[in-house]
Amino acid sequence: MPIITCIEDLRAMAQRRVPRMFYDYVDGGSWTESTYQANQADFSAIKLRQRVARNIEQRSLGARRMGIDMAMPLAIAPTGLAGMIHADGEILAARAATAAGIRYTLSTVSICSLEEIAQAIAAPFWFQLYVMRDRGFVASLIDRAKAAGCDALVLTLDLQLSGQRHKDLKNGLSIPPRLTPSSLLNILGKPRWIKGMLSTRRHHFGNIMGHVKGVDDMRQLADWTYQQFDPRLSWDDIQWIKERWGGRLILKGILDVEDARLAADSGADALIVSNHGGRQLDGAPSSISMLPAIVEAVGERIEVWLDSGIRSGQDVIKSLALGAQGVMLGRAHLYGLGAMGEAGVAKALEIIAREMDLTLALCGHTDVQHLDHHILLPGSYPLP
Ligand code: GLV
Repeated sequence: MPIITCIEDLRAMAQRRVPRMFYDYVDGGSWTESTYQANQADFSAIKLRQRVARNIEQRSLGARRMGIDMAMPLAIAPTGLAGMIHADGEILAARAATAAGIRYTLSTVSICSLEEIAQAIAAPFWFQLYVMRDRGFVASLIDRAKAAGCDALVLTLDLQLSGQRHKDLKNGLSIPPRLTPSSLLNILGKPRWIKGMLSTRRHHFGNIMGHVKGVDDMRQLADWTYQQFDPRLSWDDIQWIKERWGGRLILKGILDVEDARLAADSGADALIVSNHGGRQLDGAPSSISMLPAIVEAVGERIEVWLDSGIRSGQDVIKSLALGAQGVMLGRAHLYGLGAMGEAGVAKALEIIAREMDLTLALCGHTDVQHLDHHILLPGSYPLP
C-alpha cells in the first residue's frame, strides 16, 4: 500500500482504480480546459507571507458558517455520479464528511438518493438542486430535501446547458454507459470497482428513478434527465424556490460582480463563486481571481464561498485570506472516494485539515476566522 501524503496521491490512485469513463468525467474540464487549468494556476501564483516567532501553539480551524458550527469552514461540493466513482459513493462520502465535522452536499444527479443519505448518516446535510422543466418535480425534490433533514439548499445556476467535455463524448459516458470494446476492456481491468458495483443495487439516479411517472428504465431515465435541465431559468424562479424551501439558500455558480449583486438582492444566505471546476464556460476567469471583487461588492450582505481549483489546505487558506467565508471541495474528495471509498474521503479531509493548520501556523497565525490579505505577499494576489 503506497504512503499517501497529499491529494495528488489520492488522484493517482483513483485514476488506477476507477474505470476511465468515470475518472475522466470527474477529472476533466470543458473544451480546451483553459479555465480548469487557470483555477489551479492562479492559486499557485499567490504567495504566502512567512512570519516567525508569533506564538503559534494554540490554533483553531473551527468556524461558524451558515449558522452551523463547522470543524473547518469547508463543505463537500455537490458532484454528479459520485456513486459511479465508487459503489454507494455518496453514502460513503457523506459519512466521512459528517465524521470530519463538515457538511456533505448531495447532488440532484447523485446515484444514492436523499432518503438513503438521510438514513445512512442520521445527521444534517445539504442538497443541491438543478432547476428542471418539470416544476412539480422540483417542488417535490425541495419537499423531500426538507423531509430528509437538509439544512441548506444549494441552487446551481451555471449548468442549465452543459459545457462540452471532449473526453466524455469519446468515452461514451452516459447512463447507461455506451460501452465500446476499449471501455469494456478498461472496466474489466478494475476488479475492485467491479466488486463494489456488484455488491450494491444503486446504479442509477436515485433522486429521480421511481419518482417520475414514465421513467422506469435506464434509457428513459437518461433521456428524461438530460431534457429536463431548464434553460429558461431566471431570477423569478429563484424567488419561487426560496419561498418553497423556506430555509437557508446558497446560490452556486456566481462568477460576475453584477450577478453577485443580484444574488445578494435575492435574499439568499450565501453565494458560491464558481466556474463549476472549469467544466462549463471555457475561457472564463478562475474563481479565485474573481473572489476579491465579489467580496468587495457584496461581502457585507451575503456569505461568500468559493469552489473550483482547491487541491490543498494552502489553497483554502489563500481563499479565506481573500475574503471567502467558506470553501467547497469537489474533485479533491472524489479522488479520495475513487482511491479508497469512505477511508479515502476521510483521508482527503485529514490532509486538507493538516495542511490548513500548518500553513496557518507557518504564516504566524492561529485562527482561520481572522485571516485577511495581510497573510499574502503584496503584488502576488488578485485585487478587486
Ligand atoms: C455536473 O455537475 C457536471 O459538472 O458534470
